[in-house]
Amino acid sequence: VIFDNSFNASKAVAKEIAKLIELKQSQNQHCVLGLATGSTPKGVYSELVRMHKNEGLSFKNVISFNLDEYYPMNPDSVHSYVHFMKKLLFDHVDIKPENIHIPDGTLVKEKISEYCNNYESKIESLGGIDLQLLGIGGNGHIGFNESGSLQNSKTRLVALDHITRVAASKEFSGLSNTPRTAITLGVKKIMEAKRVILMAWGEGKSNIIKASVEGPVTNQVPASFLQEHNNTTFVLDESSSSEL
Ligand code: GLP
Repeated sequence: VIFDNSFNASKAVAKEIAKLIELKQSQNQHCVLGLATGSTPKGVYSELVRMHKNEGLSFKNVISFNLDEYYPMNPDSVHSYVHFMKKLLFDHVDIKPENIHIPDGTLVKEKISEYCNNYESKIESLGGIDLQLLGIGGNGHIGFNESGSLQNSKTRLVALDHITRVAASKEFSGLSNTPRTAITLGVKKIMEAKRVILMAWGEGKSNIIKASVEGPVTNQVPASFLQEHNNTTFVLDESSSSEL
């Protein structure tokens, strides 16, 4: 779906999320949201906050699982995705703190694989992700599933691609301060989500959007796996869709 600009696109995505939350509320069910970070979803989160404040949208039945976190990372750091999510969404809505899940960047290495298995088990015990929000990296990564990630990859510790680190280095004031690894939800859990919305804005994403939507399904471009998902929408602005 192509919108004239990212502002209108973000508003439409927020409306879809709100509709799902309210539908689940009316059925007395929880709503499991898979959430993303990066600059792309910021407009969606600010619209959700606005809907909470002005339209009474409640997050009391929402259980969230974030896609990823840098490793190592202290949750109190301004660079952490914990900080990002609090600042842009969680601190401004009525989500229950115990319903928020973000991969833990403080674990000792030996504990990571057990932690990742539990992260997936929790998602499974809730019946899976109802709606997964995604951005896309310049190399086609989803979450931090970089090129080469397999379609059945599990939640795990990954090495970040050089290009991903370069993109992140602006926030970390230099490449040498930018983490080399991260914990990411695997492609398999993303593919198991009942619905996926991938968003991309701007000219800079147009080539990778073309490769993801019209190119071959390949682990070189992990977002291309979504061609095989039965309920995925790419929400684009005019510039990110310009190569289609
Ligand atoms: C990071 C995140 C991804 C995100 C990507 C794109 O790598 N882990 O989830 O999709 O950045 O970032 P941006 O939205 O800023 O272009």
